[in-house]
Amino acid sequence: MHRTLRLGVPLAIGGLAILSTRPSFPLTSPTSTSNNSASPPAPEHSPNLARWTSKWLKSETRWHQTNFHHTLVKHSHRLPKEGTVLIPLCGKTVDILYFQNREVIAVDGVKKALQEFTSENASSFPTPFPPFSTSPLSNPSFETTTSTSLKNSPISLFRGDFFHLKTPVTTVWDRASIVALHPSLRPLYVETLKKCVEPNGVILMSTFYRKSGTPSALAAGPPWSVSPSDVIELFSKEDWVVDKIDEIDVMRDELYKDSRERWRSAGLDELRECVFLIRRKGGRKWWEVWK
Ligand SMILES: C[S@@+](CC[C@H](N)C(=O)[O-])C[C@H]1O[C@@H](n2cnc3c(N)ncnc32)[C@H](O)[C@@H]1O
Repeated sequence: MHRTLRLGVPLAIGGLAILSTRPSFPLTSPTSTSNNSASPPAPEHSPNLARWTSKWLKSETRWHQTNFHHTLVKHSHRLPKEGTVLIPLCGKTVDILYFQNREVIAVDGVKKALQEFTSENASSFPTPFPPFSTSPLSNPSFETTTSTSLKNSPISLFRGDFFHLKTPVTTVWDRASIVALHPSLRPLYVETLKKCVEPNGVILMSTFYRKSGTPSALAAGPPWSVSPSDVIELFSKEDWVVDKIDEIDVMRDELYKDSRERWRSAGLDELRECVFLIRRKGGRKWWEVWK
């Protein structure tokens, strides 16, 4: 039977804030991970994925929430009503099910994340996901599996390095995705989105902005601080239009009452969840297209 998901309080979002201020993992430079549709799926111990693989193996996934994300529920009316939805760096988010009347592509580098999604949400799919396989023709850089939602739409899970993705989508939902990437990888993330988002497509993005606190707390991550000016700089020079549509004061808002003490003890005084709607310059606004 279909499990009903409720909007609720975010759980333990600040769980990763106390990590070292310097990345403790080797970072692959943007040039060495440029999109190459002919490459095989990146192994889970590749530089971009190794630290996440280790977290999933140890079940250190405090960012995971069991309810639809409050930002998605509040702002989804601003998104295109048609076309494929992309959820980059999806983990095992139940937000995949929020879009179950749409075609969805959800991407993560770690198979355990996607397998946990399929097993924990089995009742939301009339038939189980088949084993992952590689298609040399369509998506050679990813192992994929597809099932059909109760609303009859194809939901595909892609296992591989996000930076190899190239597939047309109209909608992107980014929660805990850009903030999970080391700042040096952000330009490549934007470039990858640019290859996927269709001219009238829209990105809904939620970031954490570490506004004030100790120097080490401001520089720590993940989640790395992504400020409004970071988003504007990253996207507007790539021909996107950025609108900040919401800002939540994490230290005061009821939504974050369970996690704010952890942020405070990590040295932060002010922390904001900032929400952006990002679309291609020249693309028509969604309400002119999806009436
Ligand atoms: C903080 S978690 C967020 C998961 C999800 N967005 C959510 O809200 O629950 C970040 C996820 O990104 C995945 N990830 C990190 N780098 C990646 C990459 N280069 N390609 C694909 N997945 C990646 C990790 O395995 C992890 O599951």
